[in-house]
Amino acid sequence: MDKLEQIKIAAEREIKDASNLKSLEDLRIKYLGRSGELTMILRSLADMSLEEKKIVGPKAQALRMELDSMITEKNKKLSERKRSVLDVSRPGKKIKIGHLHPLSIVEKEIVDIFRSMSFSVIDGGPEVETEYYNFDALNIPKNHPAREMHDTFWLEKLGNKNERLLLRTHTSPMQIRYMETHKPPFQIIVPGRVFRYEATDASHEINFSQIECLMVGKDVNLSNFKFIIEEFFARLFKKKLTVRLRPSYFPFVEPGLEVDIQCVKCGGKGCNICKDSGWLEVMGAGMVHPNVLKAGGYDPREYQGFAFGVGPERIAMLKYNIPDIRMFYGGDLRFINQF
Ligand code: DAH
Repeated sequence: MDKLEQIKIAAEREIKDASNLKSLEDLRIKYLGRSGELTMILRSLADMSLEEKKIVGPKAQALRMELDSMITEKNKKLSERKRSVLDVSRPGKKIKIGHLHPLSIVEKEIVDIFRSMSFSVIDGGPEVETEYYNFDALNIPKNHPAREMHDTFWLEKLGNKNERLLLRTHTSPMQIRYMETHKPPFQIIVPGRVFRYEATDASHEINFSQIECLMVGKDVNLSNFKFIIEEFFARLFKKKLTVRLRPSYFPFVEPGLEVDIQCVKCGGKGCNICKDSGWLEVMGAGMVHPNVLKAGGYDPREYQGFAFGVGPERIAMLKYNIPDIRMFYGGDLRFINQF
């Protein structure tokens, strides 16, 4: 019995003091192992008298169980501590770094080029727009056939002043919103998201983006425009490209222009990208219509300017050879991860 008492006192203290898993294991062997101190006592029970057995047996068994659970507990504590210690010699985990969406990359490139040419980048504007800003103020009155060019998502709910609301079909309404609150001269670009109620195919999406440009001053003219976009396309595609201006019609500009660039793939010889024409249609543009300047609060006899709208999806498709506009919002990681 004395021996048992000694073992109990020593073992409890030693287990409590064990500072690592190795010394704990040594203690287990020392007391509970095959020839451990307590194991020897348990074994010697066989040689004891019945009287002795009755006293020593239960005590020894109880001690064995107590030490066993003490060791298990301690083992848990030590393992936890081990796990939380930083082992700087272990190989690191590879961190997956995210990256920008191809559209964001192109949008950022476009914006950076214009910013470097002293354009201000204007954020946003409302995606839920009023009929006035999206159409009327841009010289597209009701029943004007040009409204049919913009298949529109109309909202059922009316605005605060009972005006009709829609998802903006282009970023041009920002021309009016900006002029209303700023004085010329200025030069801005406005990236934004637009919506069209259209059947989708490889070159049509109901949701896409545009970048609107507006430059207004006393003598801003089309040669300024041509210089700026030539510079823009040269920097964007990293080579000098011939730019072609064709007369076109947009109600908010006069004259209106369609801007083509020499095909970035074949250089003008004709290929599948330019449909053998050698040219790529890349933006709508023109000199701001006097009615639009008026709607913005300017006197068209005093100020003039140019405007254009360009589609980052179209540019990204040309730059990266992307065959289908629906890939941008398709969420397919095999596509996204290539950028
Ligand atoms: N807003 C036109 C569209 O979405 C694009 C456009 C054409 C913008 C001519 C302009 C412009 O600023 O001058 O089809």
